[in-house]
Amino acid sequence: MKQIVIQFGGTGDLAQKKLYPAYEHLIEKGFDFTVLALGRRFKERKEFIKAMVPEKTSKKFLDRLQYLYYDMADPKATEPLKNEIESIIGENEEVELIYYMALQPSLYEEAIHQIQIIDSQLSGHCCLTKKIVVEKPFGFDLESAQRYNEILLKAFDDKEIYRVDHYLGKEFMQNLLILRFHNDIIRSIWDNRSIESIQIIFDETHGVDQRLGFYEQIGVVRDTIQNHIMQIVTYLTMNEPAALSPEDIAVEKVKVLRSIAPITEFHTGRYESLGANSGHIVDTPTYAALKLSVNSYYFAGVPIYIRTGKMQKEAKSLIYVKFRNTTRKVMHDDTISENGVIITIHPELTIDISMNLKEPDTSWKSKSVRFRFNQAETFGANTPEAYEQIVKKILQGDKSLFPSMREISESWRIVSPMLETERHMEVYPVRTLPRFASELAHSNGFEWFA
Ligand code: BG6
Repeated sequence: MKQIVIQFGGTGDLAQKKLYPAYEHLIEKGFDFTVLALGRRFKERKEFIKAMVPEKTSKKFLDRLQYLYYDMADPKATEPLKNEIESIIGENEEVELIYYMALQPSLYEEAIHQIQIIDSQLSGHCCLTKKIVVEKPFGFDLESAQRYNEILLKAFDDKEIYRVDHYLGKEFMQNLLILRFHNDIIRSIWDNRSIESIQIIFDETHGVDQRLGFYEQIGVVRDTIQNHIMQIVTYLTMNEPAALSPEDIAVEKVKVLRSIAPITEFHTGRYESLGANSGHIVDTPTYAALKLSVNSYYFAGVPIYIRTGKMQKEAKSLIYVKFRNTTRKVMHDDTISENGVIITIHPELTIDISMNLKEPDTSWKSKSVRFRFNQAETFGANTPEAYEQIVKKILQGDKSLFPSMREISESWRIVSPMLETERHMEVYPVRTLPRFASELAHSNGFEWFA
């Protein structure tokens, strides 16, 4: 079967940085598909290629990368697009069209409308199947997400819709489930009887000015909390699925999300120089700190503290699971450290378990030491990028790495108070942690792990 990826937003940041390298790798690995990139930035393919892909791009991929100048605002634009698709289809009989929407959510409705027009014009072909891939954030809030979904369902079956959250393609995410559900010793300690609290820290050093047009409409809550962070929370706290199958995992994830109340304890801020060169004031949150709880039998009472955002001094991505320190009381020894599981995602994927062992040459004095797993050391450094895994699954028609609409709706419900704009937003100097992050820790009596 011939597969054709029709890349909406083909001249955007995501396509350039993540999707084209993923397509290239997959083509190099033997996947056979053609990409038709759509965009307004360039008139000709030559200019597009020069600006959008590195010089060392493989010929095999370049031969399969087409470009069409496409202005969605022009009602006549669908005609040349249809013609281009037909010419790529050529003599092939069995063809799958994969519409990939790497667009602002506000453009979805128009894009889907145009896809419907093209679809009806192509309906003469005998063996055409189709898929649609929609990037996150899926919608702008709960209401718009549901509206977009209804529009999508007019043109596609749910099984043809792939809602992307690229975190599900990351090795550390999939490893969370294996760590939790393929290890008996972890199973028995992974609940509120043993766990005291969880921290999720995702600090990034870069800002957003090179993609301000997108980001200023979105902000940190829609950009990463409603999707990536909520997915991490589900993987950390869901009950065991009947099997590690997409359907069974989805059932458990929805249960977790339904047990989380809308977030009320949160703060947001933006870095000082945000949009400084844009000529207008940009008041969009770029950092947030919050607390939430999963009210299930197994996790009720375990606070989950989250902080994430841009323009920080150091890039830090980690999850810290802190265990209760009952031993300290039982042994009447305040020097005994608590145990913890530390999953570090950046700068490299490691999983540490901290334990107490005897310090040499002491009388029954323990010291906290770490047992470490290092992904690159154990399995080599060539783990595929998240987007490569995501695109591979789309091509293969495997929905295991895509959140369901129910998960997306529940996540919007949970973050909805954070979308209200009336709240005070702190303006933080670049490379500093906003004050509210430290205040959240102080008022809840904990210290950030990093
Ligand atoms: C994207 C966000 O979805 O995820 C970005 O739009 C963020 O703002 C990025 O930087 C983080 O992803 P990764 O793969 O770099 O951890």
